[in-house]
Amino acid sequence: MTKLRTTITGIGAFVPDYILTNDELSKMVDTSDEWIMTRIGIKERHIIKEEGEGSSFVGAKAVQQLLEKTNTSPDEVDLLICATVTPDHQFPATANIISDKVGIKNAFSFDLNAGCSGFLYALTTASKFIECGSHKKVVVVGAEKMSSIVDYQDRATCPIFGDGAGAVLLEPTTEDIGIVDSKLQSDGVGRIHLHQKAGGSVKPSSHETIDAREHYIYQEGQPVFKWAVSKMADVSIEVMERNGITPETLAWLVPHQANMRIIEATAKRMGIKKEQVMINIHRYGNTTSATLPLCLWEWEDQLKKGDNIILATFGAGFTWGAMYVKWGYDGKDVKK
Ligand code: UT7
Repeated sequence: MTKLRTTITGIGAFVPDYILTNDELSKMVDTSDEWIMTRIGIKERHIIKEEGEGSSFVGAKAVQQLLEKTNTSPDEVDLLICATVTPDHQFPATANIISDKVGIKNAFSFDLNAGCSGFLYALTTASKFIECGSHKKVVVVGAEKMSSIVDYQDRATCPIFGDGAGAVLLEPTTEDIGIVDSKLQSDGVGRIHLHQKAGGSVKPSSHETIDAREHYIYQEGQPVFKWAVSKMADVSIEVMERNGITPETLAWLVPHQANMRIIEATAKRMGIKKEQVMINIHRYGNTTSATLPLCLWEWEDQLKKGDNIILATFGAGFTWGAMYVKWGYDGKDVKK
């Protein structure tokens, strides 16, 4: 029997209209454009300001665009996975809500939370449903309203995060393209450095947790930074080596966009040039589960069939991983 592989056949994305600049942030907390650009590399981030809207707002728009670009009817989709750390509600899953908003009815859908590695975890999970032959059109969407858990009184975290969503369509192929290999890892020891203290079953919401601002992101930046560089680079090198990819034969590294210095240090440790790295952190900030598809979406017209691409992530958990994709189509031919 011919072995099936999973290939990405389209990309959609959406960021909300409102742009939060470093200058505006400097009026909210004691910071400056100069500090944020030097230490993080973010100039602006998009924020959902629409009343009563959550992550499904941006997620549904990204999926809608994906379906239109790929001429896919919602009825054809048989699975949708939403990677998010900011679901609309604790339950039901944001994936169910996105599916309803775009008219996907013949599918099952669920959320996946793996911190900033969520999109890569979801992509790997989705690919298994295709490789075993049970599913033919699968949507993976990373959707976040990070602004709903950012403390805009905490200068150490509020410049970092932004809102947005990106989605890909996955289909089976028997060609020598698609998702070739991935390695995912996690180590819960990292939870002490990056978490949300209240709002879960350990510490349900109460007046006290609200007063203590415990529903916001808690992060110890430096340990997260160190883990991110070494884990993201080392797992990428491992996946490259076991597939015979060298820095010379690599077309693109698509790294999680958490900090410009993390991206640069990762590329250096991997021995690859900055021109091989997709970087848009300055415009969107860290959109958690949406960073990877937002990069693929922006670079789509430069991607060529057969390009060797490494996707790499690191996030809360800790979670990390890398995926080797042999790109499946010429992006310049895609209708805008
Ligand atoms: O995607 C999820 C994974 N998350 C990450 O990858 C984040 C990883 N960590 C980082 O990106 C960096 O550690 C941060 C951007 C969070 C912080 O940068 P840093 O270079 O590690 O700074 P720091 O925490 O060591 O702080 C240095 C100084 C401190 O002042 P003192 O104690 O030296 O007087 C901070 O209070 O910078 C101060 N500081 C700021 N100053 C101006 C912290 N935030 C700000 C700010 N503006 N926004």
